[in-house]
Amino acid sequence: MNYNLGKYRKTFNKKYLSKKNFENIKYDFQFVIEILRKKKTKLNNQKIIDVGCSNGSFLYLLKKNYPNNSYYGLELDKNLLDLNKKNKLLNDIVFFKGSVKKKFSTKKYNLITFLGTLNIFENQEFILKNLFTHLRSKGLLIFNCYLNKDNIDLNINYRKYLKKYNIKNAIYIKSYELIKKFLTKTKLLSFFIIPNPYPRVIKKKKGGGGGWFNIYTLKINKQNIRSNNLGVLYDQYLIIAKKK
Ligand SMILES: C[S@@+](CC[C@H](N)C(=O)[O-])C[C@H]1O[C@@H](n2cnc3c(N)ncnc32)[C@H](O)[C@@H]1O
Repeated sequence: MNYNLGKYRKTFNKKYLSKKNFENIKYDFQFVIEILRKKKTKLNNQKIIDVGCSNGSFLYLLKKNYPNNSYYGLELDKNLLDLNKKNKLLNDIVFFKGSVKKKFSTKKYNLITFLGTLNIFENQEFILKNLFTHLRSKGLLIFNCYLNKDNIDLNINYRKYLKKYNIKNAIYIKSYELIKKFLTKTKLLSFFIIPNPYPRVIKKKKGGGGGWFNIYTLKINKQNIRSNNLGVLYDQYLIIAKKK
């Protein structure tokens, strides 16, 4: 995975650091909170980490809903980390640099969240195993990802042509069956794979949208299906795994 964004970083960070992220809650973040409420999850005096926390807006939302916990944010991108440390909305949250590909902490956590990030890695089982090692016994790992309902793994390599340079990157969408088998094999206390469709409509913008991706929804069988300018249909799931 190439996260070397070059000159594009400024645009990328601008999108992630807009104050709007903290006012208009991302639907996928709200969905996690709803599921936590539905499952009557008690979060008090817990160690909670958001891995790939980006601008910290999910931590902000989680802390607002569950204030009496210790919050941590792990990020690979130093620029984002520096900005988070200066963001007054994120006071009391400990941000630190690390990679989900390695041991990233000597602490063990009661809850690890990992949102919108798994699909950038080819070896997803390795990443998930690493996350499980950072969980306490009876701890929860909550992550979302795109999965293929057909038993086929997709490796989508793309090259985005920008004005002066271009970016090569990839998205890896694993088969639903494969991830389910992996979770079963992991001998967890329990796990749930919850469909996480997108109920809102996002119109396709003209001219590519200008951002990282031109994200939009398509109406198929009366459902809004996520898509973008890679021309792929995405089925997202939220997965909650409880360690033994
Ligand atoms: C697509 S963004 C998702 C951000 C956020 N979790 C969300 O749902 O909006 C992926 C994030 O993961 C970070 N990231 C990329 N590779 C990483 C790694 N190896 N370890 C930790 N974070 C990583 C990126 O810097 C970026 O902030």
